[in-house]
Formats: sequence, structure tokens, C-alpha cells
Amino acid sequence: MIRYKDINKAHIITEQYSKLYNESINNNENFWSKVSKRIHWFKNWDKVSDVDYSKAKIKWFENGKLNVSYNCIDRHIENGHGDDIALIWEGNDILEDKQFTYKELLDEVSKFSNVLKSNNIVKGDRVCIYMQMIPELAIAMLACSRIGAVHSIVFGAFSSDSLRDRINDSRCRAVVTQDTGVRGLKKDIPMKENVDKAIIDCPSIEKVFVVNRTSSKIKMKINRDLWWHEEMLNISSDCKPEWMDSEDPLFILYTSGSTGTPKGVLHTTGGYLVYASYTHEVVFDYQDKDIYWCTADIGWITGHSYIIYGPLSNKATTLMFEGVPNYPDFSRFWQIVDKHKVNIFYTAPTALRALMKEGNEFVKKTDRKSLKLLGSVGETIKEPEWKWYYEVVGEKKCPIVDTWWQTETGGIMITPLPSMDNFKPGSAAKPFFGIEPIILDPNGNEVKGNPAEGLLAIKKSWPGQMRTLYGNHKRFFDNYFSQFKGYYFTGDGVKRDKDGDYWITGRVDDVLNVSGHRLGTAEIEGAIGQHKDVAEAAVVGYPHDLKGQGVYAYVTLMTGVESNEIIEKEIKFKVREIIGPHAYPDKIQFSSGLPKTRSGKIMRRILRKISEGEINSLGDISTLSDPSIVESLVKNRK
Ligand code: WTA
Repeated sequence: MIRYKDINKAHIITEQYSKLYNESINNNENFWSKVSKRIHWFKNWDKVSDVDYSKAKIKWFENGKLNVSYNCIDRHIENGHGDDIALIWEGNDILEDKQFTYKELLDEVSKFSNVLKSNNIVKGDRVCIYMQMIPELAIAMLACSRIGAVHSIVFGAFSSDSLRDRINDSRCRAVVTQDTGVRGLKKDIPMKENVDKAIIDCPSIEKVFVVNRTSSKIKMKINRDLWWHEEMLNISSDCKPEWMDSEDPLFILYTSGSTGTPKGVLHTTGGYLVYASYTHEVVFDYQDKDIYWCTADIGWITGHSYIIYGPLSNKATTLMFEGVPNYPDFSRFWQIVDKHKVNIFYTAPTALRALMKEGNEFVKKTDRKSLKLLGSVGETIKEPEWKWYYEVVGEKKCPIVDTWWQTETGGIMITPLPSMDNFKPGSAAKPFFGIEPIILDPNGNEVKGNPAEGLLAIKKSWPGQMRTLYGNHKRFFDNYFSQFKGYYFTGDGVKRDKDGDYWITGRVDDVLNVSGHRLGTAEIEGAIGQHKDVAEAAVVGYPHDLKGQGVYAYVTLMTGVESNEIIEKEIKFKVREIIGPHAYPDKIQFSSGLPKTRSGKIMRRILRKISEGEINSLGDISTLSDPSIVESLVKNRK
């Protein structure tokens, strides 16, 4: 049994969970009304929530006025904590680090807010942020929230094409970037160059703000491109926070769906902040003076909610790391834990697998005494890595919170709490307060009782829920609310065991989870299809030791073109160029055709089985227009 070190002062102790959970469901509005008081409202809201899933209408804390950057910074200074450390930045190289107190952070954020304003960026404008993990990224997002601009952060590994599409989809007026980036041994990731290429076709972009990170030589275009440090030089560090409506947009974050182009998930101000803040405090049991580190990239939702908005709204000290876990060697994470005396550590199973494979010595040579709690996110943490995390990293002293949630949910939805005493490796355990998970059968009927298995949907709304897909409310409704009436459908499969604990079984749609990165098979197929010799492609996932899922592409070439290694490489590079290195196909299998129904639909179920090696359970293939294709696919399996 795990005994959590801070159990005596934990925000929630096990005995309280059921009572509080029942209250949060049965008296939902009252519950969220109380929780909403944890943040500062310039003007109180009038109504807790107004939700109608049949129209995909979701509103929380209506008519409340607040400002996110005020809640994340000013408020703590006014309460006498201006000299507390808000942000610790650890650079790629060992000796490089910086710290910002809350006062210092306010200065930087206010200055950059004024820079944005002096360049005519106003409330409601979209600002794209395309950076590596440097402090200016945090400053830029908080500055946007201060003036009411809507940030759209694009993960720094995305290609210029992906960047272009995202900028155009939300018609951003400015981009914030850096000259080049450093990550591990890579010292010159061409960030500004990618922006230059992208915005050739982005008519909405008026300004590009460029941080000097590496002093690499880059091109600056007069009147359009501005150096961050020059703009920040003679500008006031006084900027009044804008009064934002609770339902004003805070940010857009693109994520992959099962079809078509990436979706611009939109989160608004009041509900999102309340939810990120409350979940961060309770799930990580954040206590005053704890040093908290989430290793995610801010380019993904985990970084938004649990490096910046959740922790800072709780006056936490949050750590942000520019580098990678294996540079200079595989003990870097644990060295950072020792160096900054990290108490709470939150990472992804894919990182754990990569580290575990290198043996225990890299961990054992560090002390890690400061750790009190470990967290996991992004995919199911399976038993081997759970045990390694628990026994080797945490030395059997730290509980592990396996947190299930999504870009769309804004914050953690299903998770153990640190004070629990029956952790089950691989189970995300119990719903968070106010969250009502429902298991559905394929016909949309609720599967009641325990144990149960089926599709995961959520019944009631919660404040952190996304509000729309930017510019496409119909797609929002169609994607999440049309299939099963009255529920938010997650796209995940789930099991509930006899104790009522939840076990996520993975995506049931055409979305892959590669090293914790969400990728749509349709996006990858689209990129492959841009190679001139490709007639058709179908992409599926397969189990991969390190990445969790690998990308397996079946490709049919144009008539008359012979497959060879050069074409294979070119196709892989095409995907890298069009989406980014994280989507690089692991395996390509050429085939003269794909298994299709008589109506022409590709039977992905069969392709999945072949890539997974389950060739003896392909099921009924008699409905295929040409069943002989299957035989050749199995024979030439990679
Ligand atoms: C998967 C990341 C199992 C799931 C925060 C979900 C998980 C998708 C877990 C969302 C977990 C996330 N256990 N699966 N603890 N956490 N997932 O939008 O399939 O990048 O639907 O958000 O990741 O990925 P996203």
C-alpha cells in the first residue's frame, strides 16, 4: 500500500472522495459555484451554466468578468507573494537556467502586452505562437490573455505547411517565434525560416515577433519582422488587464480528428481557468512552496493547462524545460529534479519507456528525495512502466496519478487522487469531481453496472469543456454530440472494473497516439498522397515498443511505377515535410491494391489486424470486392 507523504494535509483525503463526488454530481451547480470562487472575478457571474448538447451550446459562469493573466500573476503579488518564484526555466544545456519571480513575470508580461498593443493587436485578434520551450513562450501567452488576444500555439516541430494551414484557419494577425531552436544535440532548428516559408501564403499576418535565442543568422523583413528584445526595450511595464467576459475565447489549439483538416479546439476564459486551476490543485495535491514540473511541451494541451494556467493560477512554482530527456545523458530528468528540488513530476508513458530501456543506473545516480508525487498523461501507462516509475523513480514513496483527459476537455477528467490507497497500474481510477463518465454500447445504450465495457462518453458538462471548433460550429456538433444524443462523445474505448475503476482502452476512431502526439490517419494519408507516384494510401497504427503506437502506411503506387527504396524514403520525407517529424511513418508496405468493400470503402479493420500481426483473426473477408488482396498483404507484411 502506498502512503502518500502529505496525506495529513492533502486537499482531498480518500474518505472524502465519495461524499464530495456525489455532491458534485447531485448538486452540480452549487458545487461549481463554490469552486468558481477560487479565482478572482472583476465582476461576479450571474448564472453557473447554460448547456444544451442538442445544439452544442455550452456556457459557464455567464456575464462574469475576469482576466486570466491577472489571476495568474497580479493577484498573487497583491497578496504579498511578488517575490515568490513563479517560473523556473531550465535550458537545453546543463548550466543554463533562469528564474522569474511573480513580480518579474508581471513586468515581462505587461511589457509584451504593450508591445502587442503598440502593434495594433487588440482584444479578439488571433496571435499564433510558434516556439520552442523558452520563457518568452510563457510570457507571450500570458500577454495575449492580458489584452484579450486569442493565442493559437502551434507545436514547434510542425512543418511550415502545417503552420500555414493553422494560421490561415484562424486568420492570425501576428506570429511570435524565435530565430532558431535548440533541443538536445540539435542546435539550429529553423523556427524563423519555417515561419517565413509558411506566411508567404498567409495574407492575414501583419507582424512577426522574433526572440533571439541562438543569435543564428536569419532574415528579417523590414516593417513586418520585429526583434522581441528591441520592442521590449523602451516600453512601459504597466498594462492594465482587460476585463474579459467569462465566455470570451482564451485560446485555440489545433488537434487531430479522424477526418479532414485539424480542428481548432476553442477554450474560453472563465470555465477553463476554474477547471485548470481546481484540477491542478487537487490532482497534484499542490501545496504551498511545492516545486512542480510537467515535462510536456506547451504546444500541446498538457502544457497549456498544467505548465502555465493551472499552476500559475495556484501561485505555484512551475518548471519549464527546453531540452530532451536523453541530453546530455539519460539521467537529465532526474538531475533536474535534484537541481531544483522538484516535488511533483508529471510526464508521459512514452518518455518513461525510452528511459526505462536504458537501465536503472541513470536514475540511481541521482537522489530524487524531493519527489512526493508522480503523474502520467497521454496514453495508458502499462504495468511495466508503471512499476518502473513507482519502484525505481519514486522508490515506492510516491503515488502515481494516471490522468485521463483530452485537448477538448481542457483539464483532467478521470484520475486517481494522491491520497487513495488502492492504486492499480494501468487504471485511471475514478472520475474527477463533477465528471460523469458513461459507458455506451455501439447503439448508444448506456451499459450500467460493474464490470462494464464500451465507448466512453461524458454526461454533464463541466467548466473546462471546449466551446466550439473555431469557425465551424457544425463540425463541433457533428464530431462530439451527434452520434450519441445527450452526451459528449470522447472517441475512446473504456472498461469499468468491479470496483468502479476506469481503464482506458484507446481510441475507437481513426486517431493515432504516437509518442503521446495525436495524429489523424487521414492527415497522414493526405500527406502521403501528395507524392507524385502515389495512387492511394491507408494508414493505421500498430503496437510500438517506445512510441506506444507506430505509423504503418499501406501505399498503392500509380500504374507503371515500381516500388523501391528511394520512393519509400521520399514518401516518408513527404510526411515529415508536410506535417512534421513526429508523424514520420515507421513502416511502408507497398501493395497493388487495398482491401475494399464493394462500395469502395477501405476496410481498415483488416489493415489494422495485419499491421498488428493478428493474421489469424482477420474476420469475414468475403464482402471484399477482391479478397485475394488480403493474401498478398499478409504475405508481404512488414
Ligand atoms: C489518450 C492529452 C489512456 C486518449 C491530454 C485521449 C490517455 C487522447 C490518457 C487525448 C491516459 C490521454 N490513459 N489514454 N491517462 N491520457 N489519453 O488531446 O486516447 O493530446 O482521447 O490530450 O489521449 O489526447 P490529447
